[in-house]
Amino acid sequence: MPTLTLLPSGKTIDAAAGATILQAVLAAGEAIPQKCDGKAECGSCHVFVHDGRKTLSKIQRLENEKLDTLVGVSSKSRLACQAVLGDEPVTVELLSFV
Ligand code: FES
Repeated sequence: MPTLTLLPSGKTIDAAAGATILQAVLAAGEAIPQKCDGKAECGSCHVFVHDGRKTLSKIQRLENEKLDTLVGVSSKSRLACQAVLGDEPVTVELLSFV
């Protein structure tokens, strides 16, 4: 079972392997923007992955296309609704801008 550490709070939650970051955050009762309900259409679930990037699913076309439209994207950017957790710990920074 991977752990997911949320920044800036530093809270660590247990997550199910195979869940998206978005699903894990919501299951833990934490808030995260998700205006399109996880369809990679809104970009509101944009996060920075600080650790564990290689354990996540690879970026697919839909996610890549949406990331290309967002402001403030970096090499650490992922859409929480598209990034599927593997077996290793992951640290993500929850962002408040879209
Ligand atoms: S919830 Fe809309 S892109 Fe992730």
